[in-house]
Amino acid sequence: MSTPFTVSLVSWHDGEPLLRAIREAVFIREQNVPEELEWDGQDEGSRHALVLSLNGDAIGCGRILPNGHIGRMAVLPQWRKQKVGTAIMEALLEEARSRGYKQVDIDAQTFAIPFYHNFGFVEHGKEFMDAGMPHKKMKLKFSPP
Ligand SMILES: CC(C)(COP(=O)(O)OP(=O)(O)OC[C@H]1O[C@@H](n2cnc3c(N)ncnc32)[C@H](O)[C@@H]1OP(=O)(O)O)[C@@H](O)C(=O)NCCC(=O)NCCS
Repeated sequence: MSTPFTVSLVSWHDGEPLLRAIREAVFIREQNVPEELEWDGQDEGSRHALVLSLNGDAIGCGRILPNGHIGRMAVLPQWRKQKVGTAIMEALLEEARSRGYKQVDIDAQTFAIPFYHNFGFVEHGKEFMDAGMPHKKMKLKFSPP
C-alpha cells in the first residue's frame, strides 16, 4: 500500500504559511514553546521538509541548517506513529548527504531519543534544558560511500 502522504523539500519563502501552521500547533500551542524561541531567525537560511496528506493538509515538517543541524521536527498529533516523522528525517538526511556533509546533529527532546536511534543518531554530552524541556545532543556520522 502506498503511504497516504507526500514529503517534499521547500524553501522558507515557498513553504512559510504551512510550516508556520504546523509549528504553531505543535511547539507553541501543544508544547508551550515561547514564540520568540520558536521563530529564531534561522528559517530563511534552512531547507525545510514539508509533509502533505493526500487531501493537501500540512501534517509534518522539519528543517536542516547550513551547518548540518537538524531540528523543528513536528508531526500533528493525529498523524503520529504513522511514519510521517521517519519520512521527514529520511528527506533531511538525503539532503545532508547530497550536500556532502560528513555528519549531522540534533538537539533531541529526551522522550524522542528512541526515534532518532532508528536512524543511527548517538547521544553526546549531558542532558540540558531548552524551552523548559529536557534535551540531549545527538550526532549521526555518515559512513563514506
Ligand atoms: C518526534 C515525532 C516527530 C515523531 O514523529 P512520528 O511521525 O510519530 O514518528 P514515526 O511514526 O516515524 O516513528 C517511527 C519510530 O520512532 C519511534 N518513536 C516515535 N515516536 C516515539 C515516542 N514518542 N517515543 C518513543 N519512540 C518513538 C518508534 O520506534 C517508532 O516506530 P513504531 O511506531 O513502529 O513504534 C513526533 O512525535 C512529534 O512531532 N512530536 C512532537 C514534537 C516534538 O517533540 N518534536 C521533536 C523534538 S526533538
